[in-house]
Amino acid sequence: MTEPSEDARVDLGRGVTMPMVGFGTWRLRGASAYEAVRYALEIGYRHIDTATMYQNEAEVGRAVRDSGLDRGQVFITTKLPPQNAGRERATIDASLRALGTGYVDLWLVHWPPRRSSVPVWEQFIAIRDEGLARAVGVSNYDAVQIDELIRATGERPVVNQIPWSLPGYDPKLLAAMRERGVVVEGYSSLKNTNLRDPVLTQIAGRHRVTPAQVVLRWHIQHGIPVIPKSAQPDRIASNFAVSGFSLTSEEMSALDHLSRR
Ligand SMILES: NC(=O)c1ccc[n+]([C@@H]2O[C@H](COP(=O)([O-])OP(=O)(O)OC[C@H]3O[C@@H](n4cnc5c(N)ncnc54)[C@H](OP(=O)(O)O)[C@@H]3O)[C@@H](O)[C@H]2O)c1
Repeated sequence: MTEPSEDARVDLGRGVTMPMVGFGTWRLRGASAYEAVRYALEIGYRHIDTATMYQNEAEVGRAVRDSGLDRGQVFITTKLPPQNAGRERATIDASLRALGTGYVDLWLVHWPPRRSSVPVWEQFIAIRDEGLARAVGVSNYDAVQIDELIRATGERPVVNQIPWSLPGYDPKLLAAMRERGVVVEGYSSLKNTNLRDPVLTQIAGRHRVTPAQVVLRWHIQHGIPVIPKSAQPDRIASNFAVSGFSLTSEEMSALDHLSRR
């Protein structure tokens, strides 16, 4: 079994790698966004997930700058709201201004726009080629929608950020994404899992970790990058400390089957 560590990364191609554990920032705004991201960076996170829609890019950018880390040490993802289709350049310019950086590491189409995504995707590729985003991908897309982008441009989204959790485990979807060379990145992983499920709490007890740590570790051992959000320092820290134990194949399989109960 692989032994991913906190600094484990997934390869997105073209020389870009993304840390497996990132810090989610949805619903963190203002001073609490700044404080949470500062703390996350202090304890070791090197991957921050934001979006135009979260209205916290300025706080995320300030926290990264104030952390004293080099820009190149922190992987930053942001996202284009679907209603901004047709205004891709203005949107990335506004994100970069708010973040106070010359580039983002990953830029995602947040949701499929109402009309075809192809023109948006063409702009994403052009903006990546100019160096404003090191990698480009999508979020909340299905395989048919991804195939449309690949057919039209010959370029795949390197990431599809989608809900992923114990009850939502979907090996067929994971296989479909992997066949296309698309990395599944999981969101709402804690929120959408019953952290009191006895199977989960028993496994957590055996390893002397929290149920949330088991959920995050299960993602990592499936090769799925994960971006837990918390406003609480103890949880921010424990959600990152998921490399000191390893789930057995029996435990992985028991967790996989929670979705079918
Ligand atoms: N692409 C998209 O459409 C999309 C959609 C949703 C989310 N996302 C991204 O994914 C990130 C994560 O998803 P999410 O924020 O929806 O949900 P999440 O990270 O699964 O769960 C966050 C919730 O769980 C609580 N929590 C955090 N750590 C915990 C722990 N160790 N034990 C118990 N409870 C814990 C948090 O409360 P406290 O803050 O009080 O700790 C918060 O209520 C977002 O922040 C965002 O960056 C993307």
